[in-house]
Amino acid sequence: MSVLIKNGRIVTATDDYYADVFIEGERVSLIGKDLKVNADKVIDAKDRLVIPGGIDAHTHMDLPFGGTSSNDDFDTGTKAAAHGGTTTIVDFAVQTKGKSTIEGLDTWHAKAEGKATIDYAFHMIVTDMPVERLPEMEKLANEGVTSYKLFMAYPGVLYVDDGTLYRAFRQAGDNGTRICMHAENGIVIDEIIREAVNDGKMDPKYHASTRPTRMEAEGVYRSIAIAEVAKVPLYIVHLSCSDALEEVKRARSRGVDVMAETCPQYLLLDQTIYDKEGFEGAKWVMTPALREKWNQDVLWQGLAMGHLANVATDHCPFCMKGQKELGLGDFRKIPNGAPGVENRLSLMYHAGVVEGRLSLNRFVELTSTAAAKTFGMFPKKGTIAVGSDADIVVFNPERKERISVHNEFTHHMNVDYSAYEGFEVQGWSEVVLSRGRVICEDGKLVTAGGGQFIKRARTGELLR
Ligand code: URP
Ligand code: ZN
Ligand code: ZN
Repeated sequence: MSVLIKNGRIVTATDDYYADVFIEGERVSLIGKDLKVNADKVIDAKDRLVIPGGIDAHTHMDLPFGGTSSNDDFDTGTKAAAHGGTTTIVDFAVQTKGKSTIEGLDTWHAKAEGKATIDYAFHMIVTDMPVERLPEMEKLANEGVTSYKLFMAYPGVLYVDDGTLYRAFRQAGDNGTRICMHAENGIVIDEIIREAVNDGKMDPKYHASTRPTRMEAEGVYRSIAIAEVAKVPLYIVHLSCSDALEEVKRARSRGVDVMAETCPQYLLLDQTIYDKEGFEGAKWVMTPALREKWNQDVLWQGLAMGHLANVATDHCPFCMKGQKELGLGDFRKIPNGAPGVENRLSLMYHAGVVEGRLSLNRFVELTSTAAAKTFGMFPKKGTIAVGSDADIVVFNPERKERISVHNEFTHHMNVDYSAYEGFEVQGWSEVVLSRGRVICEDGKLVTAGGGQFIKRARTGELLR
């Protein structure tokens, strides 16, 4: 199968030019002006941007969490991602405490294999790591799982102590791999939650008030200090606020290898949303919680200046009906997480490029290239170049949509609400190709399945 994308404006993290792209099989084989080639399919990209498929480095498909499971699996979640122009996700496999991480990896392979429409890779959530099990981390790296997430939050569930952090950090560093960190002081937060509950504060809004930004900043500071001593590259996930970003900036300015991701929800939503009537605020119960609005400007500036390296969604959808409502009358029981994998490119293009906060190149970098480079998938993924996978989005920079759970052009996620209900966005993924296959066209899924596991490289290595 060959595809010719004609007349488009190709935008990568570094380039911006008009040319045709010829795809043979799964990869880009030729880029040039007015290519004279025969193709099985021709896509006219006049007045369109031709950009690398989005990479969402933080998703939770089919994650058992909070007494239920996130409601998108690898079938529904990757189809929704495809609609929104994302062609690769890095999802989080989970190690069951006391059991092998390899077993956790097998479980996630079984969840994804044969179901995914786009390509996928795995980080491994490490829930314990005794000395005798450390060699597993090298095995994981050989299996293409070259990053590990550890939690300072959620005591009794995913939380690990500082000793475990240090051990896993050391091993990950020795193996040439990366640590992802959920940085919040969960032990102190649990005490604050206990106080709130004693005072009868049980509504969704208390999820936010019991998780102060300073406790996130403390987690960021502490994990950076441990990573610095353990000599491992660190990646702070879902950074939500100025306090935490300050710690990242301080460490980077003294040369520590730490980078951080933020998410559209922290850039576009704020904590006043928890004041909505009744139980409505449960839709946005996520961790970290939404913050005071002024933090958004600081995060946008961090993205533009390079202090923040990536934008991922932390897609972890729970329906209001039957899932979020587990926490009716007790915010502690609301499953933590919100949907977003489908809307990231449109939201970031609109709020970033259209509203003048990001250049076009930086938009591409933040939605695709940075994740590919950080997580060992570049240059196979994350760019448009001869030899790279033909993961490409023909993006209409003018098309406007109103994001809604009822809008067939913005909502295919298996969840009964949209976190961005009513948001007007300009910019929409019109044709989406995954390794040369057209998977979405004009809002319709045209190819289901076919997503492959991506064995990622170690830090500093290229994946071809
Ligand atoms: O609320 C969230 N973020 N749920 C998913 C788990 C996590 O901490 O990333
Ligand atoms: Zn987390
Ligand atoms: Zn997450």
